Amino acid sequence: MKYKATRGVFDIVPLRHLQKVEDRFRASELWQLLESTIRDVCKNFGFLEIRTPLFEPTELFLRSVGNTTDIVCKEMYSFEDRGQRQLTLRPEGTAPTMRAFIEAHLDQQSPEHKFFYMGPMFRYERPQAGRYRQHHQFGVEAIGNSQAEQDVEVVDLLLTVFRELGLSNLAVYINSIGTPNCRNTYRNALIDYFKQHIDALTDDSRQRLESNPLRILDSKEAQDIAIVAKAPSILDFLNEESLEHFSKVQNLLKQLKIPFGVKPTLVRGLDYYNKTVFEVVSGALGAQNSVGGGGRYDGLIQDLGGPNLPAIGFGSGMERIIQVLLQQRPESARSEGPLCFLVPIGERAKNHCFTLLHKLRKQGLSAQMDFSGRKVGKILAHADALNAEFVFVIGDQELDSDEIQVKVLRTGQTATLSLSCLVEEMLTLVALRHKRIVESVAAEASAELGLKETDTIN
Ligand code: HAM
Repeated sequence: MKYKATRGVFDIVPLRHLQKVEDRFRASELWQLLESTIRDVCKNFGFLEIRTPLFEPTELFLRSVGNTTDIVCKEMYSFEDRGQRQLTLRPEGTAPTMRAFIEAHLDQQSPEHKFFYMGPMFRYERPQAGRYRQHHQFGVEAIGNSQAEQDVEVVDLLLTVFRELGLSNLAVYINSIGTPNCRNTYRNALIDYFKQHIDALTDDSRQRLESNPLRILDSKEAQDIAIVAKAPSILDFLNEESLEHFSKVQNLLKQLKIPFGVKPTLVRGLDYYNKTVFEVVSGALGAQNSVGGGGRYDGLIQDLGGPNLPAIGFGSGMERIIQVLLQQRPESARSEGPLCFLVPIGERAKNHCFTLLHKLRKQGLSAQMDFSGRKVGKILAHADALNAEFVFVIGDQELDSDEIQVKVLRTGQTATLSLSCLVEEMLTLVALRHKRIVESVAAEASAELGLKETDTIN
């Protein structure tokens, strides 16, 4: 094979094309499940979708993410286009969202805006399990509100997506990195401290000492970890306003019974943050265990030439969410096949079935048909692989008698139906199933609410 996907990227394909367990996170059924859960939750929280281009002027990321960060220094896919423009495939979604917000003067429409997005991001990182060069992020950005409630709302939104998917064992860590002023004082204190231990630091950390000393706190190297453990804490450098905000955030999290840990070394790898930062990690993943992270970035919009508005958001790696989902709820990897699968025998039946197929679909029923005319055994094997529910083999005899056999593929049971009533029969079946589901949901809800049969809800 001459062409292969480049390193660190992957295809998302139907589940039945994936043989290996470790490839299952690429099943399109799981991506659709995740995407629809995200859409539902964002709708409930009042976040509206924004879609920005996959590439932006490089300068946007230098200015926002920061030119000493790993993303900008080592990981961007930057190029010059044919018009000599310096462009970059977006490594993250916050800066593009703010660019779009400022460009459209959305602040003039309303002081508050809440956006969500889903899509690919590009970072030239060393690929490993849970880390890709094209990964997908689901993110939200809430603009215009500086209240602690806004911070907790976005954390709650992320956790609601995880809860709706049935994920458990996730840990929430929060920290405050204060205002740029607090951070400057802290930065100097850190430099002083690390200078005293310079010989014991790794080369990487030594290099970061002048350019971005806060990033040393993030080091995963045992050598650095020992020194970081005794480093000054940012929490001792927060001004009154930041401390008060941080304390409110913690109280609100407690109020919503969201368990969390305060992690003073949590600084995050992008420059635009201030005050609250947070991360959600999963024990189900290996080294790349962060399923989402974000924080406040009150100065960014103004820095990019927009109005002085506060904002907060997060980004969450969709591959990682799906990997946790697969570990904790493997039954989610399920592909739903068509309700009806038509197998015509001969040209006359093929012609009849083609119209029947159209009629079934017109009624909103999922249906497929064999166009190939291969041997029936082969077609049935294909229908089975597709997970079809009911199979109808239709030849001249069925057309003449108006009687067809329906086969339930899962059980092998058969029954006889009238060909001319097939669409109605299928509709009745679907309606009955729907009724049963509605009844059982209603029964569950009344049991939860403790309602008796005679009670009415006003
Ligand atoms: P980030 O922490 O760089 O933040 O990325 C957010 C999430 O994307 C991570 O927690 C992780 O789940 C996932 N992720 C990042 N890089 C990769 C990768 N190479 N492969 C797989 N997953 C990855 C941001 O990007 C900020 N824009 C988040 C934000 C939004 N802050 C405020 N608003």
